[in-house]
Amino acid sequence: MMIEEGVSSPQLLPVAAFDLVVFGAAGDLALRKLIPALFHRWRDGQIPTTSRIVGASRTKLDDDGYRALARQSFEEFYPNERDDDTEWQEFSALLFYVKLDALDQNSDWAALGAKLENSEDRQRIFYLALPPDLYGDVCSNIEQEGLKSPGARIVLEKPIGRDLASAHAVNDAVGTVFAEQKIFRIDHYLGKETVQNLIVLRFMNSLFEPVWNANAIDHVEITVSESIGAGGRAAYYDSAGALRDMVQNHLLQLLCLVAMEPPFDLDPDTVRDEKIKVLRALRPVTQENVRDASVRGQYGAGAVSGEAVPGYVVEVGGQTDTETFVALKSHIDNWRWKGVPFYLRTGKRMRERRSEIIIQFKDVAHALFSASSDVLQPARLVIRLQPDEGVKLLLVTKDPGPGGMRLRYVPLNLSYADAFAARYPDAYERLLIAVVRGDLALFMRRDEVEAAWGWVDAILAAWQRDKTPVHLYAAGTDGPAQAAMLLDRDGRAWFDGV
Ligand code: BG6
Repeated sequence: MMIEEGVSSPQLLPVAAFDLVVFGAAGDLALRKLIPALFHRWRDGQIPTTSRIVGASRTKLDDDGYRALARQSFEEFYPNERDDDTEWQEFSALLFYVKLDALDQNSDWAALGAKLENSEDRQRIFYLALPPDLYGDVCSNIEQEGLKSPGARIVLEKPIGRDLASAHAVNDAVGTVFAEQKIFRIDHYLGKETVQNLIVLRFMNSLFEPVWNANAIDHVEITVSESIGAGGRAAYYDSAGALRDMVQNHLLQLLCLVAMEPPFDLDPDTVRDEKIKVLRALRPVTQENVRDASVRGQYGAGAVSGEAVPGYVVEVGGQTDTETFVALKSHIDNWRWKGVPFYLRTGKRMRERRSEIIIQFKDVAHALFSASSDVLQPARLVIRLQPDEGVKLLLVTKDPGPGGMRLRYVPLNLSYADAFAARYPDAYERLLIAVVRGDLALFMRRDEVEAAWGWVDAILAAWQRDKTPVHLYAAGTDGPAQAAMLLDRDGRAWFDGV
């Protein structure tokens, strides 16, 4: 389906025709995520047909070559959507390609300029699907080559740097070319349907807010477990590790949305102001408490979904003590969360792919059914981000029938699959359209990124000084035993489903 410029179906917010330049267009992110996301938005009728998507990279291709590469990747990553031949042909008309070394001023910038001719008055977006140390130079080349049209926007992929100092440098360099309001820093978790729903769940249901604090909540768990390994990204991953790759961004963003104060409106800066207060209130991990507050792990050989998989050192091709798993215990030192631990955990090659937030409520003040309720935790809220998206409120309930008072958990269950028929757009679909619309709410502001790095840097420094070991765990498990002990010491256990 196509739409005419500026027209959209009723449930879609219309956007005007735009030009999007993707640097790193032949790379994994562009081919696996960005182009398919654009195709899906176009097919749903949200992208006007006169828009242009111009890929740029050092790979030698022409327009048709890039169209063929994009199509081939799409078929590989979306095997169920192979039959959409006519639609792909039509969509391909929006795709163009320029062979360009974005770091080299002698490269063919004129060719890129030619692709963008006569479009200064429409929204122009540059997407840097490139390593972060290139961001500054590419921005300055965009400006020097005269391609930065008035109002042009820039999209930066995570990671922004690899510590606070490098993030600062990247932000400074990009900031000399683009104003903060024109910079869209991606954390794709913010584009996920269920993550967006966190704000709605918390602030549009009046039953939650009165109990969303230390009076009623015992602790919070945030788990992002993955079944995939480092695989083809081993070189990048080994220089990053789970703390930099996942905690600095995705897990801390989830923590912010769970813990922040109610914003007074939905203006992007109002929400981001609340999130940064959480980051600033996070208690630092120090050399003194690092072993009580963190666990590092690395997967060995094992089996995931019944399939034997090699250990991380084999994938990387040599000994390394990079962590592929991390568990953290953190506190938010403010009034609302006094004494409530937030346990965070993420790892690769774990038992299953599962992202979940658990709000564990406190014990009732006086237990009437002490004998049977001893075995049950009090009520808990399980927010399942992926897969099987949904929200479950696990309530302690009487098992029906004779034989005394037997208690068990019964979920009040909101399953997205049962409740909503619509296809959920991939996070990148939502984020790309948000950039076109200029909606900064789903993107990280400079101070957020830097505050998150500040907290993570302290952990990295403590690990280094303490020589915190990485504990081996078998692929296909819930991580090292030490992660269970992190909670066990507090008389708690990770919630891994009922
Ligand atoms: C990326 C990380 O940001 O998020 C990857 O770099 C990770 O290592 C990915 O696999 C997880 O994203 P998702 O959407 O599959 O949960």
